Amino acid sequence: MSATDYFAAHASSEQEQLRLQGLELTWDPITHRRLLAAGVGEGQRALVVGAGRGSITRLLAELTGTRVVAADVDPRFLDPADPRYEIRRLDITDPTVLPGERFDVIHCRFLLMHLGDPLAVLRTLARCLTPSGFLLVEEPNMHTWAAADPSQPGADLLSRVISCALQATEAAGVWRNAIGPRLPSLLSQAGLRVSACEGTCFLADRSDPARHAFATQSLQLVAANAIAAGSLTAPELQAALGLLRDQQISVVSPTLFGAVAHRP
Ligand SMILES: C[S@@+](CC[C@H](N)C(=O)[O-])C[C@H]1O[C@@H](n2cnc3c(N)ncnc32)[C@H](O)[C@@H]1O
Repeated sequence: MSATDYFAAHASSEQEQLRLQGLELTWDPITHRRLLAAGVGEGQRALVVGAGRGSITRLLAELTGTRVVAADVDPRFLDPADPRYEIRRLDITDPTVLPGERFDVIHCRFLLMHLGDPLAVLRTLARCLTPSGFLLVEEPNMHTWAAADPSQPGADLLSRVISCALQATEAAGVWRNAIGPRLPSLLSQAGLRVSACEGTCFLADRSDPARHAFATQSLQLVAANAIAAGSLTAPELQAALGLLRDQQISVVSPTLFGAVAHRP
């Protein structure tokens, strides 16, 4: 995993917009609940790192009533004319960024999984917290992603294709599959006190077309790594995508862990 070469930085805008939109649609309600539980409130100064399309940035602007700092190495999907936030194009793996700046709320999601040295980044974020501030870090365990019921026709094939795609994606250096459960340990090593950590996953089935569509799109993306590595064939992928597309099968999502941490 290279420290700075974010894998999707070279993806087409349309493709990456769709992927980020899917992430937001799927996970924003969970993040919203976690921010409220952590104590977000009026007047707090907030920073979002790896802001993506900015849904959590806009949410934090609404919840705090302040102008949020939206940091991203690739801010092409943020709107420079939006008064609710200020864009900072920066690489959070550079330990000299945000010198002297302090925030009451810092959020990142699906960021550390892509970075070479997540602990170093958490140390940088810890330095940016006010004494009463909190950091909400949300990262996944991708390994819960599988067919929900092994007795459903096609379940074995689908789970095997997902597992193969995930292994190849990690091996290709795109991301770490299971950094979520490590968050309390990493945050403690960064000198922070962890006050909460839990993981959430859900079932995507025919009753939830949007999440189901996101699962299909995600599988297509990660399976490309397995096909390139020769561990998966195109017909196997097509069969798995067919099962998802026809919505004949329920899928357990990846688990998104959320950890809240404070200065000691
Ligand atoms: C998977 S997206 C998640 C976006 C957003 N956090 C969300 O959950 O909707 C990861 C984001 O982190 C940004 N990013 C990746 N590496 C970064 C770095 N080294 N410094 C700052 N941002 C980075 C990417 O450009 C992208 O917008």
